[in-house]
Amino acid sequence: MNPKKNYPEEVYLNGKWLKHDQAFVSVFDRGFMFGDGIYEVTPFYNGIPFKLKEHLERLQYCLKEVQIEFDVAPLEKLMLEAVSRAGLSKSDAAVYIQISRGTAPRTHFYPENPTPTILLYSFPVNLENFKNRQWKVLVSKDKRWQRCDIKTTALMANIMANEEAVSLEFEENLLVRKGYFTEASHSSAFFVKYKTIYTHPEGPHILSGVTRKQIILLCQNLGIKVKEKAVHLDELVEVDEIFLTGTTTQVVKVASVHSREKELFRAKKNHITTLLQNEFIKLTRP
Ligand SMILES: Cc1ncc(COP(=O)(O)O)c(C=O)c1O
Repeated sequence: MNPKKNYPEEVYLNGKWLKHDQAFVSVFDRGFMFGDGIYEVTPFYNGIPFKLKEHLERLQYCLKEVQIEFDVAPLEKLMLEAVSRAGLSKSDAAVYIQISRGTAPRTHFYPENPTPTILLYSFPVNLENFKNRQWKVLVSKDKRWQRCDIKTTALMANIMANEEAVSLEFEENLLVRKGYFTEASHSSAFFVKYKTIYTHPEGPHILSGVTRKQIILLCQNLGIKVKEKAVHLDELVEVDEIFLTGTTTQVVKVASVHSREKELFRAKKNHITTLLQNEFIKLTRP
């Protein structure tokens, strides 16, 4: 199945495995009405989950932040089952999980005791060849809200940014808030300057990327200096390398960065990115 073209055959919805065209939620589901839900994507390398605990912990954190009462512990078993049912136990795949607040008459405040809607499925994903990619990236205004640490399904600002990028034949965006790079539309951003790696600090303006954390740990083990400090647009002239990280993105080199009018950055080197890519492969395919 090509995830870009097809739906997964089977999905888990609220306790049942169903053919995707037999799986329905109410029009009054708050996920549908408000984007009132949380999601998570976990990679599986050759059928083996990578950082599953970290993904489930982030999911639990986000649910808690928006007061959706749901214990993620039973999901691990379902995730493994999803991969196996999709026939992906020996290949590369990802599991998508979405938990909305549930169905209730429409109110802006949280309804009392709603039953969350749980959707979970596995899909094949190409986790090879990321080393060969060189992305051309568009700088866009970060129009997202002030809680980007919450992995909400309400992704309108990310979608608008990425649509602009893709329609102009860029692969990703670098989002800028008040002159500083925060992250990308669906990945985390790292900048190499004078052999030190800079990445925006955790907090309300970025998603706490699971891959981001692994890269920071790798750098610490390799003795590469990391500063969790935002990079300003004006500092681009001093930057040698930029790379983006994410669950399906993994570690991708940025070849160039552009505004709508002109090129702002062209990669001068790729040494540190290449080193981290090689180390990341060792981690994910031991
Ligand atoms: C906005 C944003 N930042 C960063 C990431 C990367 O996070 P992770 O490494 O946990 O996939 C994602 C992934 O979806 C994202 O949507």
